[in-house]
Amino acid sequence: MPFPQTRLRRLRTTRALRGLVRETSLAPGDFVYPMFVAHGVDRRAPIDAMPGIDHLSIAHAVHEAGEAESLGIPAVLLFGLPAAKDEEGSGAWDDEGVVQLATRAIKEAHPELLVITDVCLCEYTSHGHCGVVRPDGAVDNDATLELLARTAVSQARAGADMIAPSDMMDGRVGFIRAALDEDGHADTPIMAYSAKFASAFYGPFRVAADSAPAFGDRRGYQMDPANGNEAVREARLDIGEGADIVMVKPALPYLDLIRRIKVRTGIPLAAYNVSGEYAMIKAAAAAGYLDERAAVLEALTGIRRAGADIVITYHAKEAARWLQ
Ligand code: PBG
Repeated sequence: MPFPQTRLRRLRTTRALRGLVRETSLAPGDFVYPMFVAHGVDRRAPIDAMPGIDHLSIAHAVHEAGEAESLGIPAVLLFGLPAAKDEEGSGAWDDEGVVQLATRAIKEAHPELLVITDVCLCEYTSHGHCGVVRPDGAVDNDATLELLARTAVSQARAGADMIAPSDMMDGRVGFIRAALDEDGHADTPIMAYSAKFASAFYGPFRVAADSAPAFGDRRGYQMDPANGNEAVREARLDIGEGADIVMVKPALPYLDLIRRIKVRTGIPLAAYNVSGEYAMIKAAAAAGYLDERAAVLEALTGIRRAGADIVITYHAKEAARWLQ
């Protein structure tokens, strides 16, 4: 009986053969490492529900960024915890704000490492929404655009290598693009959170960023998990407005959309393996229910196989070590 050609069994007998026919690669160079930078005293403080991830003072963030770089991770993604929050979220566009200071410090110490900055207001607003809240409690899309653009420009001036708007307001990519261009940052790319779903998997992040909405929810501006066609449309719209990289977020419940958007647009695609996805594996591993290393590498490989060029993951440093 001839051995069916479609099976790789004979090619699985050695590591070298398996390597030759492997379809998907996973390497530290695919990762982005998110970090939470906190204003104030020089320390690191653990974050509940995200074991291994800390709130970092600027000095600690510089150190962690260096560690990521030495592991072969090309980029970090910065989220800020400001000294104080207010109704507008003014800490977001403060030239001396925590993300701006951290960006300058990291770029000075590690000029080759890419610093990507998150653009959103929810970490900076007292009400925890991603934009300007109207008297009726809804978020005012167009009034928010101005503030997001101001934030992006301030981050670019601080030296950010890439701007990542995560607010999900309509038209923000075009608005931010125009503002960056006008301020002399035409070469600063935008990585747009294009298909960002209203997800339960952001729970640990909202604790970390102290950004859970004080009232209502984010379903007015984040997407319905049931809508795949809409996600493809959102990605196309963002590309039309000037997005250089589009993102799908979360990753594991939305692998079909990573694939669809990648195939349909052909543009560089990032997938965000979010805080809840991280926490699930950490919790199961701590309970002895899962082999963390094997589970993480399998999940990250799956995200790459689905079509992601870039994987944003809190496991980046650990995974980079395991892959060495
Ligand atoms: C801000 C933002 C969120 C995340 C990234 N940017 C939270 C949210 O929308 O509530 C979540 C990231 C994660 O869970 O790891 N809008």
